[in-house]
Amino acid sequence: MTNVLIIDSAATGDQSVSRKLTAAFAAQLKRRDPQARIVHRDVGRVTIPHLTQDTVAAIRGTPETAAAAAARDLSDQLIAELRAADVIVIGAPMDNFGMASTLKTWFDHVLRAGVTFRYTAEGPQGLVTGKRAIVIETRAGLYSEGPSAAMDHQEPHIRTLLGFMGVTDVEYVRAERLAFGPDAASAAIAEAGAALDRLAETELAVAA
Ligand SMILES: Cc1cc2nc3c(=O)[nH]c(=O)nc-3n(C[C@H](O)[C@H](O)[C@H](O)COP(=O)(O)O)c2cc1C
Repeated sequence: MTNVLIIDSAATGDQSVSRKLTAAFAAQLKRRDPQARIVHRDVGRVTIPHLTQDTVAAIRGTPETAAAAAARDLSDQLIAELRAADVIVIGAPMDNFGMASTLKTWFDHVLRAGVTFRYTAEGPQGLVTGKRAIVIETRAGLYSEGPSAAMDHQEPHIRTLLGFMGVTDVEYVRAERLAFGPDAASAAIAEAGAALDRLAETELAVAA
């Protein structure tokens, strides 16, 4: 059975393009493999708290207050979801040239030294291995090429964070130019949808 973790992070509710794309991809996976187990973590709708002096110690060390214990429990739960997944699907809107802050807090809770990565004499080593990830990036502008490419602080950051944990087999599907008029937006969404349909076919074969 394939375990799929879907993470949504958009602040745009039902209007969210990334949420529509992750939902369509999940439906495709389910159609192809009705046994697939899909866990949905929507950090855009139910946000994860930012780290504070109280809670960062809990995630990195020992919880000493009720808030710290709650942060540790949430971190444990998010890491368990990550570890259980064969395929991780991330809906990632671009907010101010980076990932949504809601997605960043998810990373803040799952990157834990000694658990999802560790330092060795040879340097850092990711401990979340053997996974496939698909990152669906939605953007008003165009960053995969052209003059704004240098402003893309989203994809490199996500690549670094996933890679640091050992998730290196990652496919990026981009719906860009969403604010370049209705035709450009429809074409971008259709193209991303088609890319995801193709991936749905191969994902299950890879994870099986
Ligand atoms: C607060 C905010 C900041 C944004 N910043 C950018 C940006 O820096 N670059 C860009 O191309 N689009 C930006 N956008 C547009 C979104 O990336 C675009 O609307 C995308 O569809 C969002 O994904 P979603 O539809 O899943 O919410 C921003 C949107 C919001 C709400």
